[in-house]
Amino acid sequence: MDQIRVRGGRPLRGTIPISGAKNAALPLMAASLLAGAPVRLTNVPDLADIASMTSLLRQHGVRIDRDASDMTLDAARIDSTTAPYDLVRKMRASVLVLGPLVARFGEAKVSLPGGCAIGNRPVDLHLKGLADLGAEVKIEAGYVEAKAPKSRLRGGRVTFPFVSVGATENLLMAATLAEGETVLVNAAREPEIVDLAKLLTAMGAEIEGAGTDTIHIQGKLELGGADHRVVADRIETGTYAMAAAIAGGDVILADTELVLIDAAAEILRQAGVTIEAVEGGIRVARGKDPVLGVDMMTEPYPGFPTDLQAQFMTLMAVSRGASMITETIFENRFMHVPELSRMGANINVHHASAMVRGVERLKGAQVMATDLRASVSLVLAGLAAEGETVVNRIYHLDRGYEDLVGKLSACGADVARVVADRVAAEE
Ligand code: EPZ
Repeated sequence: MDQIRVRGGRPLRGTIPISGAKNAALPLMAASLLAGAPVRLTNVPDLADIASMTSLLRQHGVRIDRDASDMTLDAARIDSTTAPYDLVRKMRASVLVLGPLVARFGEAKVSLPGGCAIGNRPVDLHLKGLADLGAEVKIEAGYVEAKAPKSRLRGGRVTFPFVSVGATENLLMAATLAEGETVLVNAAREPEIVDLAKLLTAMGAEIEGAGTDTIHIQGKLELGGADHRVVADRIETGTYAMAAAIAGGDVILADTELVLIDAAAEILRQAGVTIEAVEGGIRVARGKDPVLGVDMMTEPYPGFPTDLQAQFMTLMAVSRGASMITETIFENRFMHVPELSRMGANINVHHASAMVRGVERLKGAQVMATDLRASVSLVLAGLAAEGETVVNRIYHLDRGYEDLVGKLSACGADVARVVADRVAAEE
């Protein structure tokens, strides 16, 4: 199995191109199920999760052509409205086919995604929302079976008790083909929601308020094809911003925008990092002084994203001072803590908060993590650590970071992807 080996201590200098957002591309791909004409997406990242969604949609009968970062999805003929367990269990975002399938075909059967490394993560809000649009929803043998009476959902008012990105996306897609008006109350405001609404609008949907907490959708009888460019990945952007802050140096993050990471940028500034908008991207720089400890709490957008919490914790682990980091979105998202501790970090977790006391230097070690963002936080830790860090189980990284090793090495990091046996032989 592949590993990533990092030798720490080199500042980052150069330009890092930011890819299209995984978490935007996945719902955009699912949205292709709503139309009988092709949807063309550009700026699609090359990632394992995108491959999983491709397999799932192909299984439904969608014809998908991919040429580098361009992808065309044609759902003119659908063979099956069932999303089987084997494909869904690989990726929770598979549940995003549920809304579009019921909306266009009047029925769908989708395997319930199981728990995952970062917590229980139920889909009750998705199901309750579909029921609010008139669907009969039942759970049979691990599958959600949803049916629209007379084959068409009807518009309604869906009030989410708390913010859910996936449920907002599922209901937004479903409502575009429902009869009459739907109002989504307490909707998620993430840039990925705005991006989805843009594609749906280009396909002929009538949507108002995406990016705010109340979205109005006037249902249409059918949607058509469209062309759309996937928004820049704000989590990848933030990850490399943290990388530059951790390793020191001066980098340009290209093809992205500062407004996507406002909350994280503000916290980085408080920690003493230079971060500013420049032509075509963002500049991030840190000189010789260590960063300062700053407290942080994760929140739904526009707050600080949970998907950057682990990376920020790595930065705070080498800060001067202390930082209280509170995770409010997921119940079990501190799996990186024991691994960072093995590298010499001083972190104490109490319920949903972690007290991080900065140390002067981390030390390289063998580490591994059980989810995407925790894994990347360990690579980032390696950039600042003395000696060599070997990160195991890197298939998590392949799910969400396009060419991580290439992008970091181009900026001077000493990082390589190696097969496990070679690492053993080198030691
Ligand atoms: C999206 O997951 C992202 N995934 C996650 O990215 C991200 O961490 C998360 O939003 C929060 O920003 C994709 O976009 C594909 P939620 P999602 O529904 O939609 C609870 C990454 O590393 N909840 O907003 O699944 C849930 O358990 C990942 O790229 C319910 O209780 O997240 C969580 O505590 C991981 N019932 C909270 O809500 C529901 O029906 C927010 O989850 C739905 C959610």
